[in-house]
Amino acid sequence: MSQNKIAIASDHGGFALKQQLLAVLKSMDYEVLDLGCYDENSVDYPEFGHAMAEAIEGGSVEKGIIICGSGIGISIAANRHAGIRAALCTSGLMARLSRQHNNANVLALGARIIGFETAMDCMNEFLNTEFEGGRHQTRIEKI
Ligand code: RB5
Repeated sequence: MSQNKIAIASDHGGFALKQQLLAVLKSMDYEVLDLGCYDENSVDYPEFGHAMAEAIEGGSVEKGIIICGSGIGISIAANRHAGIRAALCTSGLMARLSRQHNNANVLALGARIIGFETAMDCMNEFLNTEFEGGRHQTRIEKI
């Protein structure tokens, strides 16, 4: 699968940040699967967390970014799926470690918690950091 393909999803609380990150991803030549929502009308975050999980488990994409107001609800929903390791991050360091140690396949962000610059730090680390494997793989298998 293309390393330059990614999915993105949000509820209304994360919609504005989703649109910003989507534009950045496209400018970096990523093929982006936008799973919604598509405007700021109120929706229920679990639908978008599950949609992301199903896209990854179904093989459409390997990685995704999910956003709600806090990042909490949408990450809880996504993490109910066995194939998902969604990491709720508030710094670039957290996002880097989520890749190096946890092989996170979903980055979760809280649009009411962090600003655009921090979201960009998180996204860049998430996209560009490799999993270290080894002892970390053993630990992931115990999840
Ligand atoms: C929506 O108001 C808000 O509850 C949601 O975006 C999220 O923060 C839930 O965890």
